[in-house]
Amino acid sequence: MTHWQLMHDAEAVARETCRRISTAADAAIQDHGYFSLVLAGGTTPKRAYELLVQTEQQWDRWHLYYGDERCLPVDDIERNSVMVATTGLADKVSQHHIMPAEQGAEDGAESYADIIDRVLPFDMVLLGIGEDGHTASLFPGHAWPEKNVIPVHHSPKPPSDRISLSIAALQQSHDLLILVTGASKADAVRQWRAGGDLPVARVATATHTQVLIDTSASSD
Ligand code: 6PG
Repeated sequence: MTHWQLMHDAEAVARETCRRISTAADAAIQDHGYFSLVLAGGTTPKRAYELLVQTEQQWDRWHLYYGDERCLPVDDIERNSVMVATTGLADKVSQHHIMPAEQGAEDGAESYADIIDRVLPFDMVLLGIGEDGHTASLFPGHAWPEKNVIPVHHSPKPPSDRISLSIAALQQSHDLLILVTGASKADAVRQWRAGGDLPVARVATATHTQVLIDTSASSD
């Protein structure tokens, strides 16, 4: 069952995201001594990461992973890992497992799978949603191999080549939090809530899915 929480605006979504990550981290560290967090890419989560950096955490117990990455040079401004670095989060967490997408989709996916296959399940997965209902780099109309980490080509959202965690891998998490803000996502949300077979809807079938959505993205 997906739980939807309507928030006033993107800042409220960012603050609630920060609060939930902090709560999940405390619980995970208390339970098993570490916190494994899969970061969402794009622009939506950036403010939440900036807020998180201002909080007190047991950072040495944190492990950061990525839901997806664009196949670009490591210092390219369009990389999700560069976006994370600009928020300061990468400076807080030494166990920061960047997707080696600069190796190319196939080689990078293979390398990252060596890590991911050993660390599942995650404690928390963060995801965004695209205007077409994609999430991570799982795009509508694409077929995906039965693996945890997959190479992506012909992405409709540049760049064409990417690496993504699979639906199965993204669902193997104690918490799954999907962040949805802005009017540009309203159509995808309408399709999702009407039962559309979108990648985000497929991932959200996981029992522990929570959606934080602002009024601009919600047609409620
Ligand atoms: C990516 C992201 C992607 C993103 C959505 C939403 O690498 O492009 O992982 O899945 O989450 O496209 O992007 P915005 O947050 O920028 O709207």
